[in-house]
Amino acid sequence: MVLDWLPKETKQAIDRLDLALSVYSVPEIDILLSKTVLFRGKKFRPTLCFLMGQALGVPLERLHPYARAAEFVHAATLAHDDVIDESPTRRHRPTLNARSSNARAVLAGDLLLARVMSELASLGQIDIIADLANTVEELVSGEWLQLEARKIARVNRQHLETVSKKKTASLMAWCGGTAARLAGKSQSWVDLGRQFGESLGVAFQMIDDIIDFDPAGEKPFAQDIREGLVNFVTLEMIEARPSLLEPIQRLLGAVSDSPEWPWEASDLEKACSAVRSRADAKLEGAGQILDQLAQPPEANAEAVKALRSILIYLRERVR
Ligand code: FPP
Ligand code: MG
Repeated sequence: MVLDWLPKETKQAIDRLDLALSVYSVPEIDILLSKTVLFRGKKFRPTLCFLMGQALGVPLERLHPYARAAEFVHAATLAHDDVIDESPTRRHRPTLNARSSNARAVLAGDLLLARVMSELASLGQIDIIADLANTVEELVSGEWLQLEARKIARVNRQHLETVSKKKTASLMAWCGGTAARLAGKSQSWVDLGRQFGESLGVAFQMIDDIIDFDPAGEKPFAQDIREGLVNFVTLEMIEARPSLLEPIQRLLGAVSDSPEWPWEASDLEKACSAVRSRADAKLEGAGQILDQLAQPPEANAEAVKALRSILIYLRERVR
């Protein structure tokens, strides 16, 4: 993530974010996590926690444990996701399951969640912990629904929206809602904070789906189809040209080493551009929420500006 536009103190807080677990009884867990799901991540969710909190006047020190919790929960989902997806690598490095075993990857994820529970419990803010428990439920049900649709080409937009809200956006929504709770705001502000995170999260997923079809992207071209999944771009191609449904159905989860993709370059280009417009609309919605958040006298203009830069950064990822 490009961090140049962050307020200096936010950047420092992110750089200094303590992600050590110190599992004294089993030090191997720390080592494995630090080499995999906690290895130099983008810290996108902690950044969101810090900036949203700052924007609403919460001191950075108070935000730190929640930013840490957001990164730990995210890391836990990745540890479990790589088991579910049987992924050998993540960002060009061997996954936790590949380095150790599926069993250990599941246990390491469980440990991260347990640590989050105990650390947040010690802070005593039950409403935030209850929100997080609901978020974990959303994450699980999102992943579950996605699993149910594996190898099925005939999925609808509602399904993809639901999965992206649960699987990707729910934790970002928690970051936004938590910032508002820590600022002592009313429920309507908490809802606004959550909506900001949710819109951002769905846009994030849509942009990820476009990058999935970038031959120069980080992952192999059309990785979702290789994993048996229809994403926002694939759906758009099928909706525009229904005759693609059958050949894509045959491809799902059964992509050969030198695949012949059934779509034309122009199908893909149009679909990416349609998804880009949908992502832009979500980011626009997030921008409007920021306009409302920026109103009270205590709002920190620099943090709000940095949040706006995140929206631009996401949009520019697929330009
Ligand atoms: C990555 O998706 C996965 C997620 C964002 C969420 C995964 C959620 C779970 C495994 C269930 C909940 C687990 C816990 C520990 C609460 P992806 O496979 O599309 O992206 P990738 O390319 O980064 O793997
Ligand atoms: Mg995955």
